[in-house]
Amino acid sequence: MEKQFWAESWELEGHYTSFHRRDVHPYVLKHLTPYALMDKSVFVPLCGKSIDLVYFSQFAERVVGVELVEKAILRFFEENHLAYEKKGERYVSGNLTIFCKDLFALTPEDIGEIDIVYDRASLVALPLPMRVEYLQKMEELTSPGTLYFLNTLEYAPTMDNPPFSIAPDDVYGYYPNYLIEHVESPELPNHGMVRKHNLYYLKEHGFMMRKLHDAAFASLVESATRSFYEFS
Ligand SMILES: C[S@@+](CC[C@H](N)C(=O)[O-])C[C@H]1O[C@@H](n2cnc3c(N)ncnc32)[C@H](O)[C@@H]1O
Repeated sequence: MEKQFWAESWELEGHYTSFHRRDVHPYVLKHLTPYALMDKSVFVPLCGKSIDLVYFSQFAERVVGVELVEKAILRFFEENHLAYEKKGERYVSGNLTIFCKDLFALTPEDIGEIDIVYDRASLVALPLPMRVEYLQKMEELTSPGTLYFLNTLEYAPTMDNPPFSIAPDDVYGYYPNYLIEHVESPELPNHGMVRKHNLYYLKEHGFMMRKLHDAAFASLVESATRSFYEFS
């Protein structure tokens, strides 16, 4: 979605920002435990005012978020009663830094070495052409060994607005260079979207993924394997 869409969503708030949860996400509590976060650097792309940032900053060594709309960042600090210092495009509170910036302009130098990525309502927020750019940017910002915890929603019938439906097969296609464990897939008949959009079903998937090697290497292996089978 374009910048204007998100600026307007945060301006209007209410159901325009209904993606925001008041609690720490249950998948986070289950899979990114205090022990798993110990001494780790966590990156939260498209972070909004997610309260998960507070949880991560309690247990991880360093937390970095990026959010396009300043109002979301100001709301985050206000609602969580956290003091912060503004240093150019960075909003810093203890071990937490939120960049007020377009993710696509973020560099590996900006965020430093990252151990864990937490992606909830981020990949699913982007229409396909932008999603491809997002995958390329996240590839650039991560290294082999990075743990990537991804949540997606899958539902029918599909819609043309975020959150977009992303099924497990899409995820396996998007991350060919990751080892993927599909750890959560409950159907949620009471989810607000089911009622609001008259959906047949909705599932919230959780994927625990480990980056094995860079994507360029993955496509090299894929094309080498393809030509091996073509010539044999
Ligand atoms: C659907 S919300 C999800 C927020 C958060 N992940 C959560 O779980 O509540 C997507 C957020 O990404 C922000 N956003 C959209 N495009 C962005 C971009 N290119 N760079 C940084 N943030 C962006 C929006 O302003 C919005 O707050």
